[in-house]
Amino acid sequence: MTVSLTLKNICRRFVKDNEEFLAVNNVNLEVRAGEFLTFLGPSGCGKTTTLRMIAGFETPTSGQILVDGADITSVPANERGLGFVFQNYALFPHMTIFDNVAYGLKIRHESGEAMAKKVREALHLVGLTKAEHRYPNQLSGGEQQRVALARVLVLKPKLLLMDEPLSNLDAKLRLHMRTEIRRIQQTLGITCLYVTHDQKEALTMSDRIMVMNSGRIEQLGTPMELYEDPATAFVADFIGQANLIEGRLEAVDADGFGIVSVAGSRLRARMGRQNPPAVGETAYLVVRPENLRISETEGFEVKIINRLFEGDRIDYQVEAPGSGQTKPYSMSVPFLPGTTLIDAGAIIKASFIPQAGVIIKK
Ligand SMILES: Nc1ncnc2c1ncn2[C@@H]1O[C@H](COP(=O)(O)OP(=O)(O)OP(=O)(O)O)[C@@H](O)[C@H]1O
Ligand SMILES: [Mg+2]
Repeated sequence: MTVSLTLKNICRRFVKDNEEFLAVNNVNLEVRAGEFLTFLGPSGCGKTTTLRMIAGFETPTSGQILVDGADITSVPANERGLGFVFQNYALFPHMTIFDNVAYGLKIRHESGEAMAKKVREALHLVGLTKAEHRYPNQLSGGEQQRVALARVLVLKPKLLLMDEPLSNLDAKLRLHMRTEIRRIQQTLGITCLYVTHDQKEALTMSDRIMVMNSGRIEQLGTPMELYEDPATAFVADFIGQANLIEGRLEAVDADGFGIVSVAGSRLRARMGRQNPPAVGETAYLVVRPENLRISETEGFEVKIINRLFEGDRIDYQVEAPGSGQTKPYSMSVPFLPGTTLIDAGAIIKASFIPQAGVIIKK
């Protein structure tokens, strides 16, 4: 029983320092049945508040929440049939893993072999069949987080909501748990809403990502769409690294590529699909550091300000004279045997293939 979820004009007003503000500002969203959708954005952008409204722990100031088309906006949290996994998973320390997972079923007055079977199925799903007699303090952080997941999954929620479930784990475990959570979600075919401020986590786990900024949706799309076709400078900068090269859109050619003039050079790149500027307007040309190449003949002139050796790559921080940039651009080139290093102070040319740049509104 996989369900869809709809948010219609959801707002949540709070009072902070005696001032009212919208922590969630008119969010509209359709989550498809079986989809893994992630809320991504900086601290304070409204991710948790949105998730808590879906769970029923927080009431929207206005707007509607629908599950499979039925309005649940005023249904109490415990009657929504949704599962919530928190950052602090707080297992009961005095209970075995089995009893921790069984807890919610017992509250529902389930017992006996039928209940035990459900608990073991949930433990099997998270790969902890052998741990049922152990206590939480005898498990690693990652295993404890998997118990927390089993504890929620055993109740067969219609929708799984997770708020930064991996942030208490070390980096290596986090990587492992990303694939684990995705695998479990796919096995069950369950609709999942996931909150993180880690862009790598969002990119690797999600079917779609909703990027939030100051309570609003900045952009909604697949990981690849967001990376290749950011609608705004905020998204370009938040998802991966981006150089925002400011210029004027001079023309759009017959192939649909735009020509941007930057400090006397004319640079050709893709027109953004989401938020293209009009000819004559100031624009951002978004180019990823790994897509800027050092060239002898073509491209725009830059001066190397700083060279950062990263082992597998070299990050050149450069400035384009007359471009009006506020911070250096970054050019990340692979460091291979025989690569010649260029010193700070050198003037070089930076180029990129037109497909590797995208032109958006400033
Ligand atoms: N109960 C509350 N009363 C007043 N303000 C609140 C309340 N809960 C959240 N806020 C404010 O609403 C905004 C959004 O908070 P929220 O917890 O949704 O952010 P978040 O995106 O989850 O951030 P983080 O990544 O830090 O968890 C913040 O400015 C926060 O201070
Ligand atoms: Mg939060």
